[in-house]
Amino acid sequence: MQALRVDRLSDDLSGLTLADVPPPDRAPEEVLVRVRAASLNFPDLLMTRGGYQFKPEVPFTSGLEFAGEVIEADPASGFAPGDRVMGSNKTGAFAELACIPAGKLSLMPRGMDFPAAAALGATYATAFTGLVEQAQMQEGDWVLVHGASGGVGLAACDLTRALGARVIATTGSPAKAGRIAALARPEAVLVAEGRFRDRVAELTGGRLADIVFDPVGGDVFDESTRCVAFGGKLVVVGFTSGRIADIPTNVPLIKGFSILGLRAGEYARRFPERGRAIQSAIAKLAEEGRITPAIDRILPLARWREGFEAMARRELVGKVVFQPG
Ligand SMILES: NC(=O)c1ccc[n+]([C@@H]2O[C@H](COP(=O)([O-])OP(=O)(O)OC[C@H]3O[C@@H](n4cnc5c(N)ncnc54)[C@H](OP(=O)(O)O)[C@@H]3O)[C@@H](O)[C@H]2O)c1
Repeated sequence: MQALRVDRLSDDLSGLTLADVPPPDRAPEEVLVRVRAASLNFPDLLMTRGGYQFKPEVPFTSGLEFAGEVIEADPASGFAPGDRVMGSNKTGAFAELACIPAGKLSLMPRGMDFPAAAALGATYATAFTGLVEQAQMQEGDWVLVHGASGGVGLAACDLTRALGARVIATTGSPAKAGRIAALARPEAVLVAEGRFRDRVAELTGGRLADIVFDPVGGDVFDESTRCVAFGGKLVVVGFTSGRIADIPTNVPLIKGFSILGLRAGEYARRFPERGRAIQSAIAKLAEEGRITPAIDRILPLARWREGFEAMARRELVGKVVFQPG
């Protein structure tokens, strides 16, 4: 079968090849799935460089998230051949076949196609865990979402609106503002440069943001500490800017806000029941048509480089989905 292999770590994708490899051997607790679509997440890019907190040994098959059809499963797994499923593991999705523990699979939402299902799981679980589970988002809250053109950022905007809170989206790429506005339909799209706190104050009638959802870090995080309301929450999601910010601990004390560290995957591993509840809540919202993942482009897996480069060059508004075969 064809699989996108990372043979060595590299900063320029030169360590990746689309190779013919033997099909995976299924362990009894695993389910064998024919991958119909798999989506690219920022951690996939970081893993090709050795820059993610999880560092798989090379060689490995890239890709953490996919949707497809079950080919083989033990009856005890709860899955049967032909089931349309979506799953997320740390690696192995960018291939024609994937083997995955049954606990990391769920049935696709009814009515959803494979590309949308492949783009749904990781980003919406990240947004849901951060906003709903950890920050306890309420209807009417003002939520400032950074990196809003990204997969996680757009999911956070979409989920916030679906749950009746108000979104202010930010981007570091002014040219993307129109597309973000059309997809995320926020109250406003701000360019996250300089002192954007004044615009947040203006938009919220002086209240500031009840929740800041920050996948960017660096200067954006620094300014965010000025955008969060008293009693508010600043959710640390990631560091796409490349800089992990330092913050003196008197800042959250004086301003009375909390900093929450988000690790959505680890949260679901430690609290499997909550993880399943989050997946069900997301599937229900998707089935009701209240959330829809934004897809920037769908590419055959053979054009994997185009997708990875577009992400690295920060060109995307929404997800890249690969289709093997
Ligand atoms: N904590 C968790 O549990 C968890 C789970 C999943 C992902 N994450 C993290 O969430 C972040 C976003 O992931 P994603 O899959 O949504 O990535 P993505 O689709 O590539 O989106 C990232 C966005 O960050 C913004 N950005 C700002 N500075 C950037 C820079 N220097 N280089 C590239 N992008 C930059 C870009 O938006 P603009 O151009 O609009 O500014 C970009 O669209 C990553 O750090 C990832 O590791 C965290």
